[in-house]
Amino acid sequence: MTTSQDLFTKDHKHIWHPYTQSKILPTEYLVKEAKGEYLFVENSQGKELKIIDGISSWWVNIHGHSNHYIQNKIIEQLQKHQQVIFAGGISHETAIQLIDKLLPMLPKADITCNAADTTILDKAFFSDNGSTSVEVALKMAVQYFHNNGQTQKNKFIAFKDSYHGDTVGTMSVADRSVFNQAFRSMMFEVDLVDSPAGLSKESLARVTIPENISREAFKEISEDYILRQIEKLLRYAPDQYAGVIIEPLVQGSAGMKFHRAQFLQKLRKLCKNNNLLLIADEVFTGFGRTGADFACKNATIVPDIICLSKALTGGFLPMGLTITSQEIYSAFHDDSRLKTFFHGHSYTGNSLACAAALASIELYQKENRLEDVRFINSKMKQYLIDSKLESLEHIEEVRVMGAIAAIEFDIADTGYLSELGPYLYQEFLKRQILLRPLGNVLYFLPPYTMTLAALDYTLQSIVEVSSNLKIRVKA
Ligand SMILES: Cc1ncc(COP(=O)(O)O)c(C=O)c1O
Repeated sequence: MTTSQDLFTKDHKHIWHPYTQSKILPTEYLVKEAKGEYLFVENSQGKELKIIDGISSWWVNIHGHSNHYIQNKIIEQLQKHQQVIFAGGISHETAIQLIDKLLPMLPKADITCNAADTTILDKAFFSDNGSTSVEVALKMAVQYFHNNGQTQKNKFIAFKDSYHGDTVGTMSVADRSVFNQAFRSMMFEVDLVDSPAGLSKESLARVTIPENISREAFKEISEDYILRQIEKLLRYAPDQYAGVIIEPLVQGSAGMKFHRAQFLQKLRKLCKNNNLLLIADEVFTGFGRTGADFACKNATIVPDIICLSKALTGGFLPMGLTITSQEIYSAFHDDSRLKTFFHGHSYTGNSLACAAALASIELYQKENRLEDVRFINSKMKQYLIDSKLESLEHIEEVRVMGAIAAIEFDIADTGYLSELGPYLYQEFLKRQILLRPLGNVLYFLPPYTMTLAALDYTLQSIVEVSSNLKIRVKA
């Protein structure tokens, strides 16, 4: 019989874990079971523990672990077919039902234009994860213009602090950071403008900001400055850009940095007026995380292309979707095979993942997950905002939106590699809570079904640890 110790030894020897420096942090926990918000683990000393999953297992799990409804739907599908080719005239019912269920949920209202000009998102392309859903969007945008004879429209505008995945294309349209430092030579050029969450130091030095203006007025000035940066790029090269890509409302990996809906609305308008496709990467924000089904719905805009993954299958199986309009699709739908979209993965439209996604959306609607998100949001505000945590000297900002809470610490050592991250990670594990800070930003991202007891315990622990932080504060 294989003992746990054997498993640890084999893991240390043969398995390479993502985003993990195993020399510093070798595998210490084996998950035996996961139920609701809990991971039941055995640690390397042989001790059994029950750990709260405070980050929804990398932002994917929204209904809690081992949800019976989704389990049963996967089992039903398992008995019919598991993976079948999805190309060359072959499709299957579960994929069709999924898209039929999902399309009515997508953003439909666009405050920036009249109904006749509003994009209708109704053509879906399947892939395997968040990165591929974005990679597909980029290729779709470029080939759309290519098929229409505008081959020079192949560049993208993106935002500082953005993250869109780990493939070469998605790294290219993200900010330059430690994540992609080693791969710069492989990446294509993009034009990066300032983050809508805040201007860079250089830009701040260039804009005139009147004294005593409100926070909102300051944000408006900053947003307009970014839009002018984009307009300037367009003046230099009016016909070269295929589109703009953004993580709407929240730049997740950068440390849960929020921006205003108004910015998205102005950006939507700018893209329309300049024949640029707006790509909304809702891999993280999709399915209720910001308090609405999608961040674009929250901002009352409809992008030209939307990318979905993570919570799409309720955290059960990997899948990505890239959804666009018939208008974009019509550039590919042609008598010429040359105009085919030349992209596809072996597991496209995976039957089991489709069954999980369909079941997850059914559950999301039937059990009113947005109501759960509202409840979590009120609890987060009660513990983190009402307690005036932000007034502490070492806390820069406390942010809450939907079922996302973030605390940014004002310490000397910032950025993803800040030593505060590993320190807090261990502090919370001691309390049997899994939180995985992004550098000097601690965030809490629970499954929407987290029980009141676990919510209270985690939020209380966050307040305690954050208030009593023993790490050196900025001089
Ligand atoms: C906004 C966004 N886009 C894309 C991705 C990549 O998704 P995946 O890790 O499934 O490739 C992520 C992952 O965190 C993300 O947050």
